[in-house]
Amino acid sequence: MSTTTKNCWCSLLLFIGAATLVVALENGLARTPPMGWLAWERFRCNTDCKNDPENCISDHLFRTMTDIIISEGYADVGYEYINIDDCWLEKKRNFHGQLVPDKQRFPYGMKSLADYIHSKGLKFGIYEDYGNYTCAGYPGILGYMENDASLFAAWDVDYVKLDGCYSNHREMDEGYPQFGFHLNQTGRPMIYSCSWPVYQIYSGIKPNYSSIINHCNLWRNWDDIQDSWSSVESIIEYYGKNQDSIVPNAGPGHWNDPDMLIIGNFGLSYEQSKTQMAMWAVFAAPLLMSVDLRKIRPEYKAILQNKKIIDVNQDPLGIQGRRIYKELGIEIWARPITPLYQNYYSYAIVFLNRRTDGTPSDISVTLKDIALKYPGGYRVEDLYEDVDYGILSPQTKIKVKVNPTGVVILRCNLQVEDVYDSNQYTPYSPLDQLYKVRRNSFK
Ligand SMILES: *[C@@H]1O[C@H](CO)[C@@H](O)[C@H](O)[C@H]1NC(C)=O
Ligand SMILES: *[C@@H]1O[C@H](CO)[C@@H](O)[C@H](O)[C@H]1NC(C)=O
Ligand SMILES: *[C@@H]1O[C@H](CO)[C@@H](O)[C@H](O)[C@H]1NC(C)=O
Repeated sequence: MSTTTKNCWCSLLLFIGAATLVVALENGLARTPPMGWLAWERFRCNTDCKNDPENCISDHLFRTMTDIIISEGYADVGYEYINIDDCWLEKKRNFHGQLVPDKQRFPYGMKSLADYIHSKGLKFGIYEDYGNYTCAGYPGILGYMENDASLFAAWDVDYVKLDGCYSNHREMDEGYPQFGFHLNQTGRPMIYSCSWPVYQIYSGIKPNYSSIINHCNLWRNWDDIQDSWSSVESIIEYYGKNQDSIVPNAGPGHWNDPDMLIIGNFGLSYEQSKTQMAMWAVFAAPLLMSVDLRKIRPEYKAILQNKKIIDVNQDPLGIQGRRIYKELGIEIWARPITPLYQNYYSYAIVFLNRRTDGTPSDISVTLKDIALKYPGGYRVEDLYEDVDYGILSPQTKIKVKVNPTGVVILRCNLQVEDVYDSNQYTPYSPLDQLYKVRRNSFK
């Protein structure tokens, strides 16, 4: 392809620490980012079952979503956990100091709900808070850690999200590991989702990620997601800006959690929904849908069920991607994935257009300038448009058109036999190089 004038050659440095051998929580769970459904962003703390029986936080809601996850094909592509968030409790513990599910809204108790979810082949997640109260003011676990962990195990819980309201953020360094210890002591494997770093960051405390990795399967780094593009964009920006401290912490069994997928709700356009899905794949993020699956439109369901993008998200290497280029609203993100060969990786590449001028932006790059240097070439495929570019050499220049607030996501597979063996894997991200990215023809 020709080189045109008036283009700037922009180069940037990427940093990643030397390959660090991360010691991490090993409960055998979450080898790839957990996938499922979580009530919070869409249904919040709606406890009004009298006037709004179909949308209140209740046994009925979770059984209904369980059924749809199965009947509408979500389970087939990997969605597995049905997770309760806040507002499932009675306001007071019982006489024995035990947590009690709201008697009206969960009349059969949590074990019964867990049994139902398990009978469908899915898994059950619950919510609590490391503090005196949950964020919505229900009883927290402070003072009852051992009992609450045992109770969750007795209910056959598979996943515990522990929030951080009404707590001392400094004490989290002891408290979160302590509750994790009690979960472990129950003998029941439960994914442990922590809100530990985000609260500390809010308090100006630098999170001790080496300890967090060691005690949690996933953790929230930043703001709760809201139903808007500006919220999604601010999370993407946070992850890009802080990638040097965030990205190296991800790996099998331990993940950064940029919060729920809001695809199919009210706030994101079709393009923005595709962006969230693609970016969460690059982030190696948990895929927890928070949407009314009874009402979702087919085009949004198709995004959530895009198997090729889910495969990127679930890549067994578990290396989180990075922003490798950012200029004038155009970004390029890259995530190393399988198959790999010697020091060469395959990549998922996302071209993200954060501009809002109303026409697609052209981005053109030579593959070798964005990490794709394997002399044998890459098979390049567009994961939304089903375009197969065939096998391209590192010298090939590709050009994509990216819609405002949208993405193009490519999978670039090394042309090698897939020889990945998790036992031989040592964490290493090859994005520790200098890239030159060519940008041209903005309109
Ligand atoms: C939790 O409640 C106890 C008992 O009232 C109190 O002593 C403690 O300071 C509270 N902790 C926090 C973090 O608010
Ligand atoms: C408890 O921790 C040990 C040591 O890390 C681990 O081998 C075991 O699988 C854990 N058990 C559960 C149930 O999480
Ligand atoms: C982080 O936590 C580990 C324990 O997991 C501890 O050994 C280390 O000293 C802590 N680092 C800081 C800076 O507090």
